[in-house]
Amino acid sequence: MTRIHKLGIQAALFTIAAAFYCTPASALDVAAAKKLVRGSGCEKCHVADKDKDGPAWKTTAEKYRNDAQAVEKLAKHLTERPEVTFPDGHKEDHKAVKATDEAQIKNLIEWIRSH
Ligand code: HEC
Repeated sequence: MTRIHKLGIQAALFTIAAAFYCTPASALDVAAAKKLVRGSGCEKCHVADKDKDGPAWKTTAEKYRNDAQAVEKLAKHLTERPEVTFPDGHKEDHKAVKATDEAQIKNLIEWIRSH
């Protein structure tokens, strides 16, 4: 691999990492996050400040407030369909978010954490 080529790949990786980890809070697109939440059917189990079958957005925001790996963990939760336990004790694979675009998922996570 040539040096130039390597630099190009590094630059590309850096851009992806920057988009994923360094989006400033001011870039939060609330409308897009809400649209994605509605389109993915999340509100059946999650709302802002009341625990339903799933924790309130506020509960999750609180849980991850001081967790440096919050974005990573939540991105996994929303894309890898982990098994979750419902309040009645039954288990189900969690619903995946209807988006494959990292920036969109990141925006959703920041929106959840903004509660
Ligand atoms: C059928 C009900 C249901 C739907 C629909 C649902 N969830 Fe969940 N969600 C749950 C349950 C149950 C848990 C786990 C609660 C627990 O383990 O205490 C959970 C947990 C979570 C958590 C917390 C994860 C953590 O690590 O603490 C987040 C964030 C979340 N869901 C987001 C979403 C999003 C975004 C959607 C839409 C794509 C969604 N959920 C759709 C039921 C649901």
